[in-house]
Amino acid sequence: VATGAFLPPLMGWSSWNTYHVNINEDLIKKQADALVTTGLKDVGYLYINVDDGFFGYRDETGKMHAHSERFPNGMKPVSDYIHSLGLKAGIYSDAGDNTCGSIYDDDANGVGSGLYGHEQQDMDLYLKEWNYDFIKIDYCGAKELGLEEEKRYATICEAIRNTGRTDVSINICRWAFPGTWAKDMARSWRISSDIRPRWSSVKHIIEKNLYLSAYAGEGHYNDMDMLEVGRGLTQAEEEVHFGMWCMMSSPLLVGCDMTTIPESSLALLKNKELIALNQDPLGLQAYVVQREKDGYVLVKDIERKRGKVRAVAFYNASDSAYEFRTPLRVLELGGMTKVRDLVRCEDMESVEGECRYTVQPHGVLICRMEAEERLEPDRYEAEWAY
Ligand code: DGJ
Repeated sequence: VATGAFLPPLMGWSSWNTYHVNINEDLIKKQADALVTTGLKDVGYLYINVDDGFFGYRDETGKMHAHSERFPNGMKPVSDYIHSLGLKAGIYSDAGDNTCGSIYDDDANGVGSGLYGHEQQDMDLYLKEWNYDFIKIDYCGAKELGLEEEKRYATICEAIRNTGRTDVSINICRWAFPGTWAKDMARSWRISSDIRPRWSSVKHIIEKNLYLSAYAGEGHYNDMDMLEVGRGLTQAEEEVHFGMWCMMSSPLLVGCDMTTIPESSLALLKNKELIALNQDPLGLQAYVVQREKDGYVLVKDIERKRGKVRAVAFYNASDSAYEFRTPLRVLELGGMTKVRDLVRCEDMESVEGECRYTVQPHGVLICRMEAEERLEPDRYEAEWAY
């Protein structure tokens, strides 16, 4: 819904990965405090998103009330507190008549937490009365109703527009790329089922997003799901996870307990060069230019420098070390090319002709390359002799 200035991928924290429906006012406030004290706010993480679990019951007028034990003071004091820290507040609902949590959470069973039949009433409540700035809209409870997705989301977006708020960001959450229509409605949309703090999950989500770059851009992004950094992946795997989410312009929503986050994970989340790659003003997503087995080379145009600057990822998804050999012309770059490692934030040796890098298992080298010239495809097509 938000219009006007360019919007980069959303950055913040979400309650789901660590807490599922077991959230409460105190917990959310403590995480909001931690976003500030860890310094994450200073590098751009601004949203505190309350996911599933806050629903209580609908009264006789249909009005939703917060869970009486988890949020005894309601949801407005929570967004007030988040706003008082200079942050933005996010909330969650579902396009159907229940959320996943209300279907499976014994406490909340059958509250009718979803938007179905309450579109305007709920949006007025969440966005005007409770004053939240972001809403994630799930599809759990809509599947069984056999509703038509595009229409459902269009109806909901209209209710959001009717609130008069033009600054609300929307996330569509239905576990696979929803279709090109999503771009007209949302700032981001999920492209996969739920992430887990496991290598196989990170690898799977990257695979899902490899060929969806055409749909990202102009303030609208493929959402690779919330981050599992700080939740037990190895250092190399965390670098792949965070680095590829940055290359692919995914929203960056921290998913761990920020009050106990390990130092190395926090440092990675605060890596300013990777964050700049994610938030790059061109808003493009990396795409694959070379692939051999589990060795992928992806490029992303960045920095409005007439194409001479590109980010390049050498991503090794396999379980053994991999040697990349990539001619610069495959990256459409020519001449002596300066290389900077964006994970380590240090310059590497300049390259001419061919890049040769060995990357560890489950690892990635992400660099900023600044070439003397940007090759036009027709300058090398002949050499490739297709
Ligand atoms: C499914 C979504 O994919 C998750 O991210 C989370 O929001 C849960 N639903 C909540 O029930």
